[in-house]
Amino acid sequence: MLTNDQLDRWDRESFLHPSTHLAQHARGESPSRVVRTAQGVWIEDRDGNRLLDAFAGLYCVNVGYGRTEIADAIAAQAKELAYYHAYAGHGTEASITLAHMVLERAPANMSKVYFGLGGSDANETNVKLVWYLNNVLGRPEKKKIISRWRGYHGSGLVTGSLTGLELFHKAFDLPLAQVIHTEAPYYFRRPRADMTEAEFTAHCVAELEALIDREGADTIAAFIGEPVLGTGGIVPPPAGYWPAIQAVLRKHDILLIVDEVVTGFGRLGSMFGSSHYGIEADIITIAKGLTSAYAPLSGSILSDRVWKVLEQGTDAMGVLGHGWTYSAHPIGAAAGVANLRLIDDLGLVANAGEVGAYLNRTMRAALADHPNVGDIRGEGMLCAVELVEDRAARRFFDPARKVGAQVAAAMLAQEKVIARAMPQGDILGFAPPLCLTRAEADRIVAATARAVASVLGDGAR
Ligand SMILES: Cc1ncc(COP(=O)(O)O)c(C=O)c1O
Repeated sequence: MLTNDQLDRWDRESFLHPSTHLAQHARGESPSRVVRTAQGVWIEDRDGNRLLDAFAGLYCVNVGYGRTEIADAIAAQAKELAYYHAYAGHGTEASITLAHMVLERAPANMSKVYFGLGGSDANETNVKLVWYLNNVLGRPEKKKIISRWRGYHGSGLVTGSLTGLELFHKAFDLPLAQVIHTEAPYYFRRPRADMTEAEFTAHCVAELEALIDREGADTIAAFIGEPVLGTGGIVPPPAGYWPAIQAVLRKHDILLIVDEVVTGFGRLGSMFGSSHYGIEADIITIAKGLTSAYAPLSGSILSDRVWKVLEQGTDAMGVLGHGWTYSAHPIGAAAGVANLRLIDDLGLVANAGEVGAYLNRTMRAALADHPNVGDIRGEGMLCAVELVEDRAARRFFDPARKVGAQVAAAMLAQEKVIARAMPQGDILGFAPPLCLTRAEADRIVAATARAVASVLGDGAR
């Protein structure tokens, strides 16, 4: 076995990590960790640390770590048929079964599933299909995509453009011109403190209407949004947001892509965020929870309305010129089938709703009175604690102080609990595996309260 020192050297010499300060990492100045194994909600590193993973990797290990049912399904698939492609009508038992199982769980108007590898490529597919659709319908000008500031939809060219976070645009020449952004549905950061939630929803709707008016509805193909903003800060929508947005989109014949990469398959305590909020999607993006990250797989679930146009398109123009070598990879599909069965067998959707509500409730009870806690919010097994310099004035900390990152680091070092310092703002994010117990939730909350106190004081004035 390699020594830790040797691994550390090879890591710095050879491995370019995603979303990392490359120079600091290469010089050995920033924290790094070599993860060795994991079980349930716990990961273990090569230095022998055992850490409670309150972010489920990157909110993806929904069934928890170490599930032999999925590992065995992957091994059996690899032995029987590690790979065959899905082009020109080819399939495997696993990929066909998984498509069927996804549609059994999806909202009723959904009709077909296309499989990719990750959330970014799935959204890339969605944009291409929407463009294709408008070409088939003879509306070649109707191509722009509306996204929201603070939305996260991936980090490819078009998906990094859809993402509404500065870090993912800066120095990459993004966003591309076809992507335009509208107001984030982020009530805590509303423009005026005295706005009610309903007034803020009306403001978001007015902003969207104004954008459509400026650009022209005949140039806009689709709107993309996560049911709950994820990487942008874990922000549930204000009251009435989705029905009001959907009404505007319908009026202007703009398709709705609901990005359920985080919310799909149970995280909100409902199978899909679309059903949770009563959203009728034209396309739903799925990834993370589809396999609980045991193997890479994503999907685009298409409504009957979208499917009918694609059908018409290939009748007119022949084969659809889109696909990846690894589309519907059998190993990912086998992992997906075993994962969705496990979610049902263990009742994880209900557990996410029940224990997630407990996590949010106890987090509020423990931290809501701290003067530097501006907002505690969440839905299902998602929770966020937003830290501020002055709560009454809603004054944020100077980003250079990296207060959120400091608290997350204290949680890790002192409490052995992993929270995510979200990339824009001083926001601690929690998205544990859906199998979290109440005792584990208690541990997360106690760790958060102690870490906030150790960085910002105990709140006594
Ligand atoms: C809502 C959402 N969409 C898309 C993506 C991109 O997925 P991936 O990182 O698998 O490309 C993410 C990743 O976090 C996400 O949260």
